Amino acid sequence: MVNNKLPLYCSPREWDYLRGICPHRGASLFFGRSEEGGLRCVYHGWKFDATGACVDMPNEPAEGSFKNKIRQTEYRTRDAGGVIWAYMGPPATMPELPQIEWTLRKGIL
Ligand code: FES
Repeated sequence: MVNNKLPLYCSPREWDYLRGICPHRGASLFFGRSEEGGLRCVYHGWKFDATGACVDMPNEPAEGSFKNKIRQTEYRTRDAGGVIWAYMGPPATMPELPQIEWTLRKGIL
């Protein structure tokens, strides 16, 4: 993870973060705009929800289905001890956080 700029944003579910590269033209999502229900790429406006699904493509016809074929890598997160912890492996193998005293506190700062 050293020197990777990963976009972290707050969704109604929890803190989420996505792979830092937009699948459209490879633009950095580090500058993406956090909107209700997802993160929008600032270049051409594709929007991704917390599961990594593309949910809006302003430059495609509304009735088109191309957006259903596009996915972004999303990573699971947990908020514990004032730190957002991210797991970059497959969701099925995500381990529990260690039960260290300072990680039992909920909320950032
Ligand atoms: S580069 Fe992200 S929508 Fe085009």
